[in-house]
Amino acid sequence: MTDIKIYQDRESLARAAAEHIIESGTTAIQNRDRFSLALAGGSTPKAAYELLASDEYAQRLDWKRVHIFWGDERCVPPEHPDSNYRMARQSLLDHVPIPAINIHRMHAEEAPIKAALEYESSLRAFFSMQPDQSNDPAVGAAGRKSFDLVLLGMGDDGHTASLFPSSDALNESVCWVTAVEHTIPPPPLVTRLTLTLPAINAASQVTFLVAGASKSQSLKHVLSPDQSSPTLPAQLIQPLNGQLLWLVDEAAYSEKLKQYDTI
Ligand code: 6PG
Repeated sequence: MTDIKIYQDRESLARAAAEHIIESGTTAIQNRDRFSLALAGGSTPKAAYELLASDEYAQRLDWKRVHIFWGDERCVPPEHPDSNYRMARQSLLDHVPIPAINIHRMHAEEAPIKAALEYESSLRAFFSMQPDQSNDPAVGAAGRKSFDLVLLGMGDDGHTASLFPSSDALNESVCWVTAVEHTIPPPPLVTRLTLTLPAINAASQVTFLVAGASKSQSLKHVLSPDQSSPTLPAQLIQPLNGQLLWLVDEAAYSEKLKQYDTI
């Protein structure tokens, strides 16, 4: 099931995202005694992470039971300005009582293929340790799941995580993590590590955070695909047995709104 929620501006979007993460986390901890959250990179989620780290929100989640992962990473050292890990550490992880062992970052400073394989095996080990879920209503027939919640952004070109238009990574059907050569804009033009569609679509909940008018064309395309135009990577995010939620601001939704005006 896909749901779309539209917010007036980035601030109310960030607040809604922080609430959503707390709610998802609380439910997962009640059901499975732990919360596995894959963070989005880029700039849009930063405000929500900062809110989550604030007194108002931080004490509402049992951080000892939260496990943090990443949807993608730029192949730079962890202290590099382009590092998604660095952004999340500075805006959230340094400010909440999460055990260091619960922070599962991509070692993107290492050789990309080696780092991808390493992260793949750490994910498979982590999720094979999930407690018996046969009685968990969220699991259903699809059997074991991946993350409780995957947060994603979307680029102006409709890319998500580091799954770019016409990238071979979009055809990956087995691996959960892959390395992606990234030589055309948007920046940064560095090799990336990214979760693949099988890993993301196995999640219980996938939530997009999308803000700004520059995303409106792609958002309209993704939300009302016409067969004549090519499929954008964000359109391929279709959780097998999970929920899909779009948290967007009015600026990003503007083209879609225009579409209604013409009806
Ligand atoms: C990355 C991201 C990427 C991001 C989009 C949107 O590492 O770059 O994971 O997929 O979410 O590019 O970025 P903004 O939020 O900065 O617009």
